[in-house]
Amino acid sequence: MSEVAYSKNETLIDGQDIKSDVPTVEVVEKQDRSPYLVNRLLESKEKNLFNHVKFNLVKQEIDKLGLANPKILDIGCGLQVSRQYLEALNLQCEYFGIDYEPRFNPDLVVDLLNPGDAKDHFHWNPDVVLMLDVLEHLHEEMPILEDLLAGVRSLIPDECTMIFTLPQMYRLDRFKLSHLHYPEHKIRLHQSEWRKLLETQFDVHAVQGVGYVSVIPYLPMASKRYTPDNKLGKMFNYMRSSLFEWGPFKPIDLWLSNTIGKLNLFKTVSNDIMFVCTPKKRS
Ligand SMILES: C[S@@+](CC[C@H](N)C(=O)[O-])C[C@H]1O[C@@H](n2cnc3c(N)ncnc32)[C@H](O)[C@@H]1O
Repeated sequence: MSEVAYSKNETLIDGQDIKSDVPTVEVVEKQDRSPYLVNRLLESKEKNLFNHVKFNLVKQEIDKLGLANPKILDIGCGLQVSRQYLEALNLQCEYFGIDYEPRFNPDLVVDLLNPGDAKDHFHWNPDVVLMLDVLEHLHEEMPILEDLLAGVRSLIPDECTMIFTLPQMYRLDRFKLSHLHYPEHKIRLHQSEWRKLLETQFDVHAVQGVGYVSVIPYLPMASKRYTPDNKLGKMFNYMRSSLFEWGPFKPIDLWLSNTIGKLNLFKTVSNDIMFVCTPKKRS
């Protein structure tokens, strides 16, 4: 899709720096990199049970740092839902979001497969770096993912806190079931495998399960008969978009994530898993 874009940002596409003063008019190829995900994120409700729990837990981790006005870099920021949640939770912060989808209108368009000199465009060194539900979208091969993570490490300072969330029971990813095919997730890993990957670049300080009620809608996917369009698919959709969006589930699921979510036994049966890390010191 080609369109006239009123660009308010500096845009870095495939390592190519297209600088623009505010506002400029230029013809930019706004080609979606992942059309399915772009449409899903643009169409779906941002306020939901899963996001409620996820962003409350992220806010709790940021609060623990005791920083006034923390600087937050959000890598793979999507529609900057994190910013909206964190502000709604009364976090005073400076925020900068990067993503490779121009249609999400990030502060900087960066492809993590080729970040180029993205770092030079950050306005400050971040105190907190978020990478929430992004790594699973990047590549199917572990060695390339390791290189990618090294690239992420090179974008951030030695002294910062990095928060990752990654799927576990989301679409039953950790079981890697052959009948479940969700092409947006290029790689499906168990918690211990995600941790091993992160530990190539980061020291992991805390691990916590995210979402125990929000995981229930995914259970019909365990059946080999599940397809998005049959009865099981409809059951999944109804449970995820309606039944489990009942308001009182929000505090319950947050409480569960803050209690059993910290017990090893339960860390692999949550929707997502959250890792709180610091970068390994450069040698
Ligand atoms: C599931 S969304 C998560 C969005 C946001 N972090 C959140 O938690 O709401 C994954 C995001 O990763 C971005 N992404 C995927 N591959 C990328 C790449 N190679 N470079 C930069 N961003 C990428 C997508 O555009 C999308 O916004």
